[in-house]
Amino acid sequence: MNPLSGIRWGSATAAYQIEGGVNEGGRVATIWDEFTCRPGATVRGDSGALACRAYDDPGPMLDAVRWLGLETFRLSIAWSRVISGPDGATNREGIAYYRRVLSTLREMDVEPAVTLYHWDLPLWLQERGGWTSLATADAFAHFASVATREFGDLVDNWITINEPFCAAFNGHLSGLHAPGVQDEATALRAALVQLHAHGKATRAIRAAMPEARIGLALNLSDLEAASTTPEDLEALRFADLVENRLFLDTVLNGSLPADTAEYFGVDAVAAAARGIELSDVAEPLDFIGINYYEHNVVRAAMPGNDLVVRGIEKLPVPEPHSANGVAVHPVGLARVLLRVAALAPTLPIWVTENGIALHDYLGPDGHCNDVERVAFIDAYVDALKIAVDQGARVEAYYFWALMDNFEWSHGYQLRYGLFYTDFPTGALTPKASAARYRDLVAGEKIGRADLAPAGGRAAVHGDMN
Ligand code: FCB
Repeated sequence: MNPLSGIRWGSATAAYQIEGGVNEGGRVATIWDEFTCRPGATVRGDSGALACRAYDDPGPMLDAVRWLGLETFRLSIAWSRVISGPDGATNREGIAYYRRVLSTLREMDVEPAVTLYHWDLPLWLQERGGWTSLATADAFAHFASVATREFGDLVDNWITINEPFCAAFNGHLSGLHAPGVQDEATALRAALVQLHAHGKATRAIRAAMPEARIGLALNLSDLEAASTTPEDLEALRFADLVENRLFLDTVLNGSLPADTAEYFGVDAVAAAARGIELSDVAEPLDFIGINYYEHNVVRAAMPGNDLVVRGIEKLPVPEPHSANGVAVHPVGLARVLLRVAALAPTLPIWVTENGIALHDYLGPDGHCNDVERVAFIDAYVDALKIAVDQGARVEAYYFWALMDNFEWSHGYQLRYGLFYTDFPTGALTPKASAARYRDLVAGEKIGRADLAPAGGRAAVHGDMN
C-alpha cells in the first residue's frame, strides 16, 4: 500500500509576498508596508510593493498551479483588502479579486486552502496596540466571519493564523519582522493574543460554516541538545518551549506548558495572559498545519550569543544547508510529524509549508537547474513516507513556494519557488524542481508511488530516535 496515497499535493503562497498592488483596489496599509520603509529593515530596502504582481495579474500564478497539476493550493487573503478600517466596512473590490482567483481554482478542480493571517496586520490595528490588544482578536474574528460569508461557497479549508511564533517573536523580540518591536514581555503577549484570536476566529468560522475544515499553521523546529550537560539539556527544553510547546501544547491542551512561568517569569505570564481564557484556545481542530523548515542543535548560550530565545545558542549548521543556512535535514520532518501524531493521534496533519531557499538563476539556456531543490523534494517526500508509515495522519503537503517571492526581511535575495520569478516583468518559468514536483503529483494521482529518481536521490540521513 502506498503510504502517500492519502495525501493531497499542493503548493503555497502568501498575500504580501506575491501580490504587490499595495495602493490598489482599496487596500489599506499594513505593518509590512510601514516596516519595509524603515532603513535597514530588509535587504537592500526591498518591499512587497510590487512583488510578483499577482494582484494586477493572477494569470501567471494560476497557470503555474495548472502546469503543476496541483490538487490543492494554499493562499492567504489579505485582511487589508477585505476590511477597510475600524468601522469594519468591507471592500468590494478586494473581495471581487479573491473571488476571481478562488473561482478559477475551483474551475481548475484545485481545492483552495485559505490562510486568514499571514503576518500582514492592517496598520490601523497596529496603531491601536496590534497583537498586544484583545481588540485585535475581536477584529480578527470579525474578519473571519466576513471571509466565510464572502468566500464560503468557494473555500472549505481555513487556516486561521500562520506561524504565530514568528509573528510574535520575530515581530516583537528580535524585531527582524514587522512591527519591529524588541521586547520579550510584548512578544509573549503577542503570542497569547494570537492564540486567543485563533480560538475566536475558529468559533466564528464554525458558526458560519459548520462543515468547514479549520486549522492553523505552526512552524515547529526539530531540536537537539549539543551535549548532555544539565545546562545544554535545559537550553533544549527552553528552546523547545518557546519555539514549539508554547504554541503546540496550548492549542491542543488549552493550557500553557508547565515550565512557561519558569522561563518567562510568573508576572510576565500573568500579564501576557490577562483577559485570555486559555481553555478557549483549544477549540477542536479539523487538522493541524505544520510548517517544517528548521533543525537545530542548541546549547546554553555564552553571554551575548543568544538569538531569539534568551539563554540559548544555536550551533552553526553543517552542510548541506539552504542559502540562508537552514539545515537540510529531512528526518526532522518525520520526527516533528510523529511528535504531533503522538500528542494528537486522531488529528489529521497537513504539512502547510516545507521548502528550501537557494540562490537560483536562469542559465544561458533560460532554464533554472535547481538540482538541490530536486534532491530536497525527493528526500523530504521519503521522510513523509516514513512518518506516515509510522502512524502520522498526513492528509496534505504544500511545497513552499509556488514561485519566488518577497521573502520578508531577506527581500528578493532568497528564492524558494518551484517557478522562477522574473521580478521586473512578473514572468514565471518552471525550474527543474517544478518538473520534478509535477511528476510526483502526476504519479501519485494515478497511484504510482515509485518514480525513477532524477539524477541521484538524497538520502534521508539521521536516526529516528
Ligand atoms: C515561513 C513563512 C513563509 C515563508 C517561508 C520561507 O516562515 O510562513 O511566509 O517566508 O517561511
